[in-house]
Amino acid sequence: MQDSPRPVVAVANRLPVHDVGDGWQLSPGGLVTALKPVMSARSGAWVGWDGGSKDTPTRLPELSIELAPVRLSAAQVRDYYHGFANRTLWPLLHNAIEKPVFERSWWKAYGDVNARFADAAVKALDATPDALLWVHDYHLLLVPELVRARRPEQRTGFFLHTPWPSPDVFARVPWRKELLLGLLGADVVSFHTGRYLTNFVRACGRLLKDEGVRVSGDSLVLPDGRTVRTSASPISIDVAQFGKVATSEQADADLAVVQEQFAGRTVLLGVDRLDYTKGIVERLLAFEALLERRPDLREQVVLVQVAVPSRDDVREYRQLRSNVEQIAGRINGRFTQPGKDVPVHYLYRSLAPQALSAYYAAADVMLVTPLVDGMNLVAKEYVAVQDARGLCGALVLSEFTGAADELEESLLCNPFDVEGLSAIVERALEMPVEQRRAAMSAMGRRVTEHDVHSWVDVQLADIGG
Ligand code: UDP
Ligand code: G6P
Repeated sequence: MQDSPRPVVAVANRLPVHDVGDGWQLSPGGLVTALKPVMSARSGAWVGWDGGSKDTPTRLPELSIELAPVRLSAAQVRDYYHGFANRTLWPLLHNAIEKPVFERSWWKAYGDVNARFADAAVKALDATPDALLWVHDYHLLLVPELVRARRPEQRTGFFLHTPWPSPDVFARVPWRKELLLGLLGADVVSFHTGRYLTNFVRACGRLLKDEGVRVSGDSLVLPDGRTVRTSASPISIDVAQFGKVATSEQADADLAVVQEQFAGRTVLLGVDRLDYTKGIVERLLAFEALLERRPDLREQVVLVQVAVPSRDDVREYRQLRSNVEQIAGRINGRFTQPGKDVPVHYLYRSLAPQALSAYYAAADVMLVTPLVDGMNLVAKEYVAVQDARGLCGALVLSEFTGAADELEESLLCNPFDVEGLSAIVERALEMPVEQRRAAMSAMGRRVTEHDVHSWVDVQLADIGG
């Protein structure tokens, strides 16, 4: 048993800070929220891309760790980040829901940039004796092996924040062996769910047989005898922090503004990065079908869709934006009554957690309907805010999210079935209060028991071995 916890060197595509014009702040978002408490409690470093800023700080007062910025050229950002990470791997890992693009020059840039991250990680590890290495997400699949080649005894964990697709889908990528062997440089490779884990183990068994890699239960045994474990460990949120924000005086004031805006109407809410995995189009179509079928609801319900700008250098994301905005405009054109408010309120921006939690509190029905999503933290945040305020809204949740494994009292839906989704939204509107209360309190309990702190503890214990 160690006296003090081992330091951590985290490696992720982005640093956990951003420039707010007159200084730097911690960034919002899943990964940062997850890692901030533990990184502040232990010493260590965070290696990440500087996002193109020249004066990235190496420390922030509210974060007791070193920031180790990785600088990338414009061509590397184009080929590694927009190209291989977001047009090859992102769609591939999300069940090829958009067609992945295979481009040899992007693969080359991905290898070069992963090597830059590995260099920075080794430097940070040299400066932090006894540290655990914790590598995150699909941008950096080659880093574990690149570090192991230089530090064979390094304890390394990898966590994938996206799904892992079926072996048939993964097998399409021309550099499949290199990607798998890159990951197997870790001691433990972790996923949100047992399904993603099984898909990964099967991909290794099938594609690395000729390399002498053997499957042993949920582990992979390499030709040199080293064993790589896998684990399923769903990420979560800082429930206590969300509860605090959601019950503050400021939250009451923010909520009153939203409630006044939508007084007398039932509020449906969607909150997503504007990403084709999130099922925003299907959600809007389901809402449109509902208003068609139920004229009596046209002035009674409002759909608020927060769409956070994302990856707009990538063609598929620009196309999605124009598609979403066209459908939202069409619905408002069709169903707005003269002199009345529109049925769809579309916010193309990112909201601060405080403002977001007012929307979560105001929402009678939360629509989380991705076509595929590794976890989906928004669903858990909605539950945390509703539960903290003693509310009992209804959660409509896609069965194709990692969150669906845990939030089984939600109204599960198949978002590909637009008519079916529309019927489930209707059911959510009519669900008796006792049923909603029971569901929300069960989900609230589960999210509280499995918050981000317990996720981090489990992860680091796993990596420590
Ligand atoms: N988020 C935010 N502001 C917004 C919308 C979302 O800070 O206006 C945050 C949200 O609180 C959540 C994260 O972005 O923590 C989204 O995480 P999720 O797992 O739902 O999806 P991802 O964007 O990682 O695919
Ligand atoms: C997902 C990924 C994260 C990524 C985030 C925002 O949650 O799993 O690794 O940081 O989306 O995407 P971006 O491309 O803006 O970093």
